[in-house]
Amino acid sequence: MNHQNEIMLKKETTDKNGLNTMSEHDSTKNGLGEKWPEPTVRVQSLAESNLATVPDRYIKPPSERPDQTIIINHQPKTAAINIPVVDLNSLFSGNEDEKERISEACREFGFFQVINHGVTPELMEAAREAWRSFFNLPVEAKEVYSNSPSTYEGYGSRLGVEKGAILDWNDYYFLHYLPLVLKDLNKWPSLPSSIRKFPVNINREVMDEYGEELVKLGERLARVLSSNLGLKEEQLQEAFGGEDVGACMRVNYYPKCPRPELALGLSPHSDPGGLTILLPDDKVVGLQVRYDDTWITVNSLPHAFIVNLGDQIQILSNSIYKSSEHRVIVNSQKERVSLAFFYNPKSDIPIQPLQQLVTSTNPPLYPPMSFDEYRLFIRTQGPRGKAYVESHISPLVN
Ligand code: OGA
Ligand code: NI
Repeated sequence: MNHQNEIMLKKETTDKNGLNTMSEHDSTKNGLGEKWPEPTVRVQSLAESNLATVPDRYIKPPSERPDQTIIINHQPKTAAINIPVVDLNSLFSGNEDEKERISEACREFGFFQVINHGVTPELMEAAREAWRSFFNLPVEAKEVYSNSPSTYEGYGSRLGVEKGAILDWNDYYFLHYLPLVLKDLNKWPSLPSSIRKFPVNINREVMDEYGEELVKLGERLARVLSSNLGLKEEQLQEAFGGEDVGACMRVNYYPKCPRPELALGLSPHSDPGGLTILLPDDKVVGLQVRYDDTWITVNSLPHAFIVNLGDQIQILSNSIYKSSEHRVIVNSQKERVSLAFFYNPKSDIPIQPLQQLVTSTNPPLYPPMSFDEYRLFIRTQGPRGKAYVESHISPLVN
């Protein structure tokens, strides 16, 4: 794509969606700048200050508050509905029922949990506990890794840069694994403890191994989805940029919340990228998936990963597969730690519906856009349900 087209594409998407993703005044390359619009407040600090309620900044309007019965019981409202469970071992041994189950899950929910996925329980546990101990450090020890909107890498407490926005009840840590040029070791919390006041217990070997295993799992899942769409096994991966996929991780820390019925740990959103492989907290529920008008609380099986499809899969599949809308509720009893691993397309190539899935009766629903550009919607305006993928519809289709 030449430079001129690229600029036109940016202008068109900015206009159509009314999203002000590019500011003329910012000098950094994506326009998001180095500073947050307001001083950063760590949710952990609020939680530890024994407030009787939550500050106004975290109070959702009544229509967006979670269902109180769920929080009180810690149980799903409709226990009968849960997200499908897929046995990957059985799937890869050619079990047709399993293949049907994952295929239906991708069309219906965009969400499923996988068991027998090949990652050892020991590695999963070690990764989660390493990050739990990181978040258990005093806030002061983490501030050195404080992030900025330009890359989001490091310790953060908000998603989106809109001044005055209502915020979510979580702190997080965001990191790149792939491409390797983006894996910036200075951004990893593992500097020698001798030069730090607080030793940081992130075991780099564990985290590297975890990343490698999850990239492998992402590749295997991409092959399954591709063949279920009637494509060559490697086609989806190729559309992701082949060997040049992106991989990053958001570790979420949801502190105890004095008024969980007023706030959310993470507002409704769909993930902007490809596939998300989530390692949930083994002891505390919180993730909810939207199914029609109900929020289903995910009860994960021991040692399962929760997989969900992001907007890039919805775009590439021309909406045969749906990205899922989900949110996180909090509670007053226990903090919760989750590791969301994102397996994404190469960030600078145009992503659009795959030609094989486009026919005269099914025209391409989405115009081409790189993931780098697409990701700016959520990075600028924060979580907004499925608004970004829904407003990304091609003008030719309407
Ligand atoms: C996310 C996410 C869910 C969770 O990080 O995008 O949806 O359970 N996390 O923390
Ligand atoms: Ni998510």
